[in-house]
Amino acid sequence: MIFCMDQPCFWPRGSYRIGCIDIDPACAPHRKAITGLLTPRNSATQRRRPMKFRRKIYMVGGALTPFIGKMHPDFIWKKHPDFGTRENPTLEETLSAAIQKALADTNVDADAIEKGFIGNFAGELFSNQGHLGAMAVRADEKLNGKPFTRVEGACASGGLAAIGAIDALNAGYDVVMAAGAEVQTTVSAREGAGFLARASHWEEEREIDDFTFPAMFARRAKFYKEKFGVTDEDIAHVTVKAYANANKNPLAHMREVTMTLENASAASDRNPAFLRNPELKEHLKVSDCSQVSNGGAAVILASEDGLKKLGIDPSDCVEILGYAHTTSPLGRVNDYTVLDNTELAAKQLYEETGLRPSDIDVAEVHDCFAVTELLMYEALGFAEPGKGAELARSGATAIDGDIPVNTGGGLIAYGHPVGATGVKQLLEIYRQMKGQCGDYQMPNAPTVGLTANMGGDDRTTVVMALKNVD
Ligand SMILES: CC(C)(COP(=O)(O)OP(=O)(O)OC[C@H]1O[C@@H](n2cnc3c(N)ncnc32)[C@H](O)[C@@H]1OP(=O)(O)O)[C@@H](O)C(=O)NCCC(=O)NCCS
Repeated sequence: MIFCMDQPCFWPRGSYRIGCIDIDPACAPHRKAITGLLTPRNSATQRRRPMKFRRKIYMVGGALTPFIGKMHPDFIWKKHPDFGTRENPTLEETLSAAIQKALADTNVDADAIEKGFIGNFAGELFSNQGHLGAMAVRADEKLNGKPFTRVEGACASGGLAAIGAIDALNAGYDVVMAAGAEVQTTVSAREGAGFLARASHWEEEREIDDFTFPAMFARRAKFYKEKFGVTDEDIAHVTVKAYANANKNPLAHMREVTMTLENASAASDRNPAFLRNPELKEHLKVSDCSQVSNGGAAVILASEDGLKKLGIDPSDCVEILGYAHTTSPLGRVNDYTVLDNTELAAKQLYEETGLRPSDIDVAEVHDCFAVTELLMYEALGFAEPGKGAELARSGATAIDGDIPVNTGGGLIAYGHPVGATGVKQLLEIYRQMKGQCGDYQMPNAPTVGLTANMGGDDRTTVVMALKNVD
């Protein structure tokens, strides 16, 4: 047995066993010493092929609730003028609102919905509420008796709801709903961080910090910065873009909060480095984080036969070209500078659809923390390893850039109601393709789009490719 005692191995439970050797994957000297012993990245490539579509699958449309939470003008807290007279929508109200609005906006009668999947991560913890399939069908009495199921995969729960719907369509259903919702503001951010930490390997990773996930991504930021010479200001470009986009988006949590490069680049009284872990504290500020948001999203998907039944023309839809779903062992990250689970999903998606990264006109990626967006650029092939920051700095991922990313503000500023996020990503691509994004509409409506929805520390990923039908 070898136990790593070197300084970089500050993370006491990060070690794992390979043969008779225990290593810490974060430790550069030991990574070097054990080269060849680690499982090669993406070794699972051969084990699974992505889902092969048997029929054409279309997104008919859908709807979102506004994403709200601290700093949003409609969010009720003790200094809000309505405090004491009005409360924030509950989980049920949020989910129902998204479902009802999706039906209304698409003009689809609830009776036509044959099946439904609901993404939600932690209803039991935040709202004492599980069994959300049965909760969802309260939204419309015509849904009563239909098969609705809740699915969970941490922050990728919404993406999993969407692929549940796609699989059902491939299996023979014709009109299926995918929805997601989360309400997280029922407890303090600190207590909520403990709830969210259930998406990590609790026994091995919870104690990294009270704010477990922020700390895990501070760790990624630390290694990424050290390996590639990236600065806090480089990473801040992601944050500034996110807030600038959200400022044009009436549904965004941070729609009224402005963010300067100066504020996003360095910790300050206004923007504290709030972690307690002494090794990680300097690598994450409040502005680097996605929001603790409440919100819901719902979309309706259909086969060609389903469109006929609904009387909807394909030209009013977006086609889903393919998806890939990958899962890697909790708590076992080989390299903190790479999202290799997402990289594998992207590789499978590109192989399956024949698309290349250069074919993508718009993307919604999982920016749970600012550094994650840079890692996403690299995992999805938009930038070479270590060049994500250059891409962000270049402006290419801005709304008017070559490859706009997170045009409505992303998880950082649109908000991150965990179970809704993956569904919202799909709808955002649809809305850009159909020219429905108002002030944050891309100058040229995109033809091909991609979503990347990630759960935990890159342990579950759903990527999807979409094409406008015109
Ligand atoms: C970043 C985040 C904590 C900010 O939320 P918030 O409501 O503004 O946070 P708070 O005001 O409660 O501050 C959080 C902590 O920072 C510290 N803090 C806040 N302001 C501070 C200041 N000015 N100086 C020093 N410390 C400060 C405090 O320790 C506080 O915790 P405490 O009040 O329990 O002691 C929250 O948005 C978050 O957790 N985001 C990430 C969500 C997430 O992980 N999602 C899953 C993704 S995988």
